[in-house]
Amino acid sequence: MSFEKEVKERIDANGQNELLKSSAHEFIKTSLAPEYSYNFSWLGRPIIQYPQDMIAMQELIWEVKPDLIIETGIAHGGSLIFSASMLELLYSCTGSEGEVLGIDIDIRSHNRKAIEEHPMYKRINLIQGSSIDPEIVAQVVEKIKGKKRVLVCLDSNHTHEHVLAELKAYAPLTSIGSYCVVFDTIVDDMPKELSRDRPWGPGDNPKTAVWEYLKTHPEFKIDKSIQNKLLITVAPDGYLKRIK
Ligand SMILES: C[S@@+](CC[C@H](N)C(=O)[O-])C[C@H]1O[C@@H](n2cnc3c(N)ncnc32)[C@H](O)[C@@H]1O
Repeated sequence: MSFEKEVKERIDANGQNELLKSSAHEFIKTSLAPEYSYNFSWLGRPIIQYPQDMIAMQELIWEVKPDLIIETGIAHGGSLIFSASMLELLYSCTGSEGEVLGIDIDIRSHNRKAIEEHPMYKRINLIQGSSIDPEIVAQVVEKIKGKKRVLVCLDSNHTHEHVLAELKAYAPLTSIGSYCVVFDTIVDDMPKELSRDRPWGPGDNPKTAVWEYLKTHPEFKIDKSIQNKLLITVAPDGYLKRIK
């Protein structure tokens, strides 16, 4: 049996391994209150992610070889620097040129300064404004002109209404064969008290928005192989592959 086939079969089996799945679920649940996801950085910038999702993004970026990555939700800039550094590696390996477009409603001046001074800034463009503001969406649509392989990551306001509006605006920009990744779908699987004072929670979050969007968008399918592989992920049902 080929190595790839073995990996695929193991991932399928892991995805049905109830003990493994419940252990992963318990880890995520227990790690939320101590704010585990705030402990990491990428090339010096804080990134608010679980490391497993970063590995999945690395695999997707290599597979898709995007010439544009659109990200909503910048915070300290770690995920932008991550994506830009992957594109830089891609360039040195394959010559494929790519850039990252980050959108945030509030790019704090110290974060902007640190991002702009970073060596990876050469592959980054920043837009300040709400990701669902039609004027901001129009700016993004302008930027995708001429791009052939677009990957989208949604990680801003995590309410159902906001993410559904982001999906309507940005998912159609995803190229066929590429992904629209919706982070923090895990909120739906966690107890309400872990969302603390946030306007989102179980029943009103990125996963409910994904499910709503997919009802009328058969051009996307949830790539379950990614969550079955990661097991520890903040994006269960959030890795959406554009298939047509
Ligand atoms: C979870 S953080 C992003 C983390 C980042 N992607 C990372 O991995 O390090 C969420 C960000 O979304 C931004 N945000 C909240 N509402 C927004 C909106 N309506 N439009 C764009 N960004 C928004 C916040 O300002 C915050 O910086």
